[in-house]
Amino acid sequence: MRTARLAIVGLGNVGRRLLELIEIKHEALRAHYDLELRIVGVADTSGAAMAEDGLKPAEILNLKRGKKGVAAYPKTGRAGMSPLDLARAANADVLVELSLTNLKDGEPGLGTIREALTRKMHVVTANKGPLVLAYQELAKLAESNGVKLLHSAAVAGGLPTVNIGKRDLGVTIIEKFEGVVNGTTNYILARMTEGQSYAEALKHAQNIGIAEADPALDVDGWDAANKLVIIANAVLRRPTTLKDVTVEGIRGIKPEDLQQAANHRQVVKLIALAEKRGDEYDLSVRPTRLERSHPLSKLGAGMMGVLYHTDINGTIFAAIEESDPYPTAAGVLRDIVQAVSQ
Ligand SMILES: NC(=O)c1ccc[n+]([C@@H]2O[C@H](COP(=O)([O-])OP(=O)(O)OC[C@H]3O[C@@H](n4cnc5c(N)ncnc54)[C@H](OP(=O)(O)O)[C@@H]3O)[C@@H](O)[C@H]2O)c1
Repeated sequence: MRTARLAIVGLGNVGRRLLELIEIKHEALRAHYDLELRIVGVADTSGAAMAEDGLKPAEILNLKRGKKGVAAYPKTGRAGMSPLDLARAANADVLVELSLTNLKDGEPGLGTIREALTRKMHVVTANKGPLVLAYQELAKLAESNGVKLLHSAAVAGGLPTVNIGKRDLGVTIIEKFEGVVNGTTNYILARMTEGQSYAEALKHAQNIGIAEADPALDVDGWDAANKLVIIANAVLRRPTTLKDVTVEGIRGIKPEDLQQAANHRQVVKLIALAEKRGDEYDLSVRPTRLERSHPLSKLGAGMMGVLYHTDINGTIFAAIEESDPYPTAAGVLRDIVQAVSQ
């Protein structure tokens, strides 16, 4: 039996689900991979807790349910200990980074990931911030330290978008990538197709918790653009930043636009597109009219999907219905297993 020691930063929606899955999948991990996951450190905004012989997921979840931070973990909790301190102090094989996405300076994720890679820990993250701001630097740091940087849950949660592109299409040429990779805008556009105004659909999305109070990142297309940047770097192998993506959101879309599209048997989706032109790719995010026969036009309100058009591997369509963060946490778990497997 192999033991993989984990240090987990961030115990919000995804981090807490990951703890649950580690418990639920304990037997499957043993049976399929001869693997036991031991949590040797955790951090949130209260501080951190560390234990060489393992922290109990159920105890951590109890603290979070009781609105206490991990600094209150019996005996080992340390108030004010930062994620960076945890990366320096924890004796871990994998640093799992699930703190908030910060697109200004990437912190606290970026510094923590740099530290972990430098200390030769594998890194698994669902956090787009550090990847969008410093993909190439982090990928090189991982390579030079002989460890893995895995982030399949950062693009469309549980949908294995990056894995299909990077692993399964490794020797093909991707002629075109098309994706509905932002669930919030897909939900809003689906409601608008049913007759709601943009404002009504947005309010509804906010009421059920899938749109933020400040929806700018989603509705102005930047979240989808961030994901396209990660795909361009990881899958298309092109050093890419946000500056390389033309971005247009859905704020200007009116129900009449959708009706007009419907009259032509078309559907409007916010499409993240990478199209090969010579040796480079044109990258864009914009509302796009799709024929009803197009696979992405069929995605319902709670769905995301991607389409890879390739030279030798045909056209691959993958989609997911993701109504809570469990599939994202499952994506993090699959990356952890991959990180510690040969
Ligand atoms: N939710 C999804 O379905 C989904 C899907 C794909 C990707 N993601 C990405 O996954 C990451 C986690 O998402 P989430 O929904 O779990 O977020 P969340 O619920 O907001 O949780 C964020 C966690 O990070 C901790 N944190 C924030 N700032 C910190 C700091 N300075 N030091 C230490 N800990 C800090 C928070 O601590 P407290 O608990 O003390 O507040 C919380 O535990 C994000 O980057 C998100 O973009 C999420």
